[in-house]
Amino acid sequence: MRSAVRTYALAVDAPDPLPKEGIQPAAGHFARGCAICHGAPGEPRSPAALAMLPQPPDLSRVVGQWEDAELFRIVKHGVRFTGMPAWPTQARDDEVWSMVAFLRKLPTMEGTAYRALAYGDRPAPPMKPSRFDEALAECTRCHGADGMGYSPLTPVLAGQKEGYLVESLNAYLERQRPSGMMQLSVQATDRALLPDLARHFASLPRQKVLGTAKDERVREGEQIARQGRPALKVPACLGCHQDAARNPLYPVLAGQPQAYLARQLLLFREGSRSGRPFSHLMVSAAEHLSDADIERVSAYFSILPRED
Ligand code: HEC
Ligand code: HEC
Ligand code: HEC
Repeated sequence: MRSAVRTYALAVDAPDPLPKEGIQPAAGHFARGCAICHGAPGEPRSPAALAMLPQPPDLSRVVGQWEDAELFRIVKHGVRFTGMPAWPTQARDDEVWSMVAFLRKLPTMEGTAYRALAYGDRPAPPMKPSRFDEALAECTRCHGADGMGYSPLTPVLAGQKEGYLVESLNAYLERQRPSGMMQLSVQATDRALLPDLARHFASLPRQKVLGTAKDERVREGEQIARQGRPALKVPACLGCHQDAARNPLYPVLAGQPQAYLARQLLLFREGSRSGRPFSHLMVSAAEHLSDADIERVSAYFSILPRED
């Protein structure tokens, strides 16, 4: 196992620095998807886990033995013939890198710091939430009670269109929108509660916008949003994303964190977010966006106040 991991990892390029902004959702994912076998700071491994062969190690003791690329390889692909599972989706690598960033913090993390990251300011919800308040406690671990999200890679749910939220939850559930983090959470939650959760988050007020400085980048982003890049076949974004009354499945972008918007545009551009009835509209809108234009247009929408 060790030499296979080392060999495969030679072909992996680790980002430097690791994506620290992904540590919170990775901790949230760890609590549901990893701690059951590996334990966590302040949560020792269960007797059942200790009886497994091979035994899932206490990760805080062993991660130091691996390079970043090796941890990536283990977490993405799992370890065959052991209980160690692969990441729930193979369609994107960014979430796995967030997990590697979290694993690097494990050896020095105290139980209180871990619980704050993984559960927010509330007690841990049950593994199979079946009442509305339990399900809500599951979501607010990462999205916050105010629906604003604890990480710039987590979307603001507060004030998003209800129809779009329902559509997105179904997309995760049916594995048509790849996200290991969301997939695990929606699969654990009673399906009948998903529309109620969507209605709840849609009804929350969207709070302050993160920044308002109109720098050069934002001005160029605004131009793309208003006019597109006709020579490159990039459509004007506001045609679909401005009017709140337009199609309930066209999401509101105003006030979303820039890192989240940029990440989604990359996923559309590479075709990995493509499974739903309206996704092709965005795949073709993002297809010809350059990396720099993705940065610009995301910066613009992130500081845009919500109308309505
Ligand atoms: C069902 C139990 C189970 C779950 C869930 C699980 N693991 Fe593991 N994991 C194992 C076992 C068993 C091994 C030991 C494999 C071996 O020694 O060959 C392992 C090994 C590892 C290793 C290599 C450590 C070492 O030095 O051997 C890492 C890193 C790791 N797991 C991370 C994770 C992460 C991150 C998650 C959650 C996304 C996770 N695991 C979920 C059972 C599990
Ligand atoms: C472990 C952290 C975590 C938990 C728990 C979690 N989410 Fe998420 N959520 C995320 C992240 C990260 C994303 C972005 C995923 C992506 O890139 O597609 C996301 C995306 C979403 C989206 C898509 C929004 C958009 O603008 O496209 C919805 C809807 C959502 N979550 C609702 C929920 C609900 C409802 C729950 C509870 C059942 C929940 N989430 C639990 C982290 C989490
Ligand atoms: C023809 C209509 C249309 C145009 C033009 C359009 N979009 Fe979209 N956009 C959509 C639809 C529909 C979705 C939801 C797709 C899905 O969930 O699969 C979406 C989703 C998105 C998302 C994901 C939001 C989230 O919460 O996850 C981003 C970011 C986005 N669009 C940015 C842009 C940008 C930037 C442009 C301009 C370059 C643009 N869109 C142009 C219709 C459009």
